[in-house]
Amino acid sequence: MKRIIATAVVAGITAGCAGPAAQQDAVATAKLEPRSGSQVSGTVTFTQAGPDIVRVTGQVSGHTKGPKGFHIHEKGDCSDPKAMSTGGHFNPGNHKHGGPYEPERHAGDLSNLTFNDKGIATVNFVVGGISVSKNRPDGIIGRAVIVHMDVDDYKTDPTGNAGGRVACGVIR
Ligand code: CU
Ligand code: ZN
Repeated sequence: MKRIIATAVVAGITAGCAGPAAQQDAVATAKLEPRSGSQVSGTVTFTQAGPDIVRVTGQVSGHTKGPKGFHIHEKGDCSDPKAMSTGGHFNPGNHKHGGPYEPERHAGDLSNLTFNDKGIATVNFVVGGISVSKNRPDGIIGRAVIVHMDVDDYKTDPTGNAGGRVACGVIR
């Protein structure tokens, strides 16, 4: 067992530009707090489920009904009352904005969260292009997750036209 782990680590280093291998089962959590005068809050957990698969789970509440934009933004700084301190969408590959399962997308472009008529969204999906790490170029630890006022159209560059930033959490 120990020998297998050691081999995996060496493979990650020799892969070079990808940085250290994404560590299977690595977990990070973001506690979302209201911004822009909203009452949106919740908790979201990121789990490394495979070499390029991250499972996103959790629950967010306090929003109006319907699909709402949900992204990882570049900077893990929620200090601004409107969360503008988080910068733009996490985009290490210098791509254009898109849907989470389209080839052209920011790494931080996640699925819209769907809020029910009680204003609650249950989060559970998988996505690629990110890793639950600090040191890889696609690593999300130390960045921020944002819930938006409106739906992400998965098209309009660079924001998805998703409106204001109503909740913010640093990924730790
Ligand atoms: Cu966003
Ligand atoms: Zn984007």
